[in-house]
Amino acid sequence: DFRPIILAGGSGTRFWPRSRRARAKQVLALDGERTMIQRTVDRLAPLAGPERVWVITNDLLSGTICGQLDCVPEKQIVCEPAARNTAPAAGLAAFLLERIAPNSVLGIFPSDHVIANESAFLSTIRQAVELAAAGENMVVLGIAPTRAETGYGYIETGDAFGENALRVRRFTEKPNQERAEEFIAAGNYFWNSGMFIWSARTLANAVREHLPETAPLLEKIAASWETPDFRRVFTELYPKCENISVDYAVLEPRSSKGEHHSNLFCLPANFGWNDLGSWAALYEHHLDQGNADSSKNVTESNGGLAYHAGGNYVFSPKKFVALVGVEDIVVVETEDALLITTRHHSQDVGKVVKELAAKH
Ligand code: GDD
Ligand code: MG
Repeated sequence: DFRPIILAGGSGTRFWPRSRRARAKQVLALDGERTMIQRTVDRLAPLAGPERVWVITNDLLSGTICGQLDCVPEKQIVCEPAARNTAPAAGLAAFLLERIAPNSVLGIFPSDHVIANESAFLSTIRQAVELAAAGENMVVLGIAPTRAETGYGYIETGDAFGENALRVRRFTEKPNQERAEEFIAAGNYFWNSGMFIWSARTLANAVREHLPETAPLLEKIAASWETPDFRRVFTELYPKCENISVDYAVLEPRSSKGEHHSNLFCLPANFGWNDLGSWAALYEHHLDQGNADSSKNVTESNGGLAYHAGGNYVFSPKKFVALVGVEDIVVVETEDALLITTRHHSQDVGKVVKELAAKH
């Protein structure tokens, strides 16, 4: 009884100006026709149809998401009264499903990642579900790291478990540069993909153990599900939950119990994963897809020319764009805003959004 839980309440500030609060990355079509969240649901369909999918999101996005996911039952698109990060969001799903479908296995999925090889993805998820259904096992999908990225969680792995899994020795969320470099050099580390598979009961119990003040609030909210009181209880109690991610709240403390006591397992995944965390990551993704010209320019525009220009990313769908003598820059034009940066600095675009928010 596998139930995908899609987390879609993030604000996606690093894709400004294409993303705004009400148009976060997950509801945009960044690399094709379907939006990120539609593709997340599509690729899971062979394992769990849309009628089994739950989405946890916020008021600003829920209308758009309901429109984009017309096959997901509307009541399963849960709208948080306040953003409390991923631990309360995933935790609420666990408490709800523990009541509604006590033997269900949950797959927690971000709503905004690209996956190139969908059949490899499905077979990895099948293995993860099997492992999670076999006991109180918490399965994290790990990605072989290629650089000392500081925006990810790192999974230190230990002994092999069964055919494909590894025990988790230690989980470290968003290390500093120096530690990230040590982890890469050590060789037995994986990036956390942000995809977790565990039974509803196991996750609910982990929240009870690691977030003892938040768990009873979530439990009360879940108990009021489908009663006339639900919205009132949800609005009153959810904002009181701790504002923390599942990585910091559950995985880090859990892993400190040690490799043989934490019930944490890493399933190495190799399905062409990219979390599209910045314009530079989107550029790399287009490069992998063969969408660049011979000088490695990716131009999403109404025609264009490049002369002594290479490694650039341009999004300006209505205009003809000429690139002359520039390298590694990013230009993104929308109706009312223009971004000019370099690929190297595109992680900092979120800072513009924070400043704009502070001014308005
Ligand atoms: N419902 C809800 N509410 N969803 C949320 C909230 C929230 O308050 N905050 C974030 N999300 C959603 C986002 O939309 C995204 O799909 C997912 O949860 C993960 O949140 P991010 O904000 O993107 O997390 P991150 O990128 O900083 O880090 C996580 O992902 C990395 C891989 O991409 C961590 O799990 C890292 O360990 C991991 O390496
Ligand atoms: Mg992310």
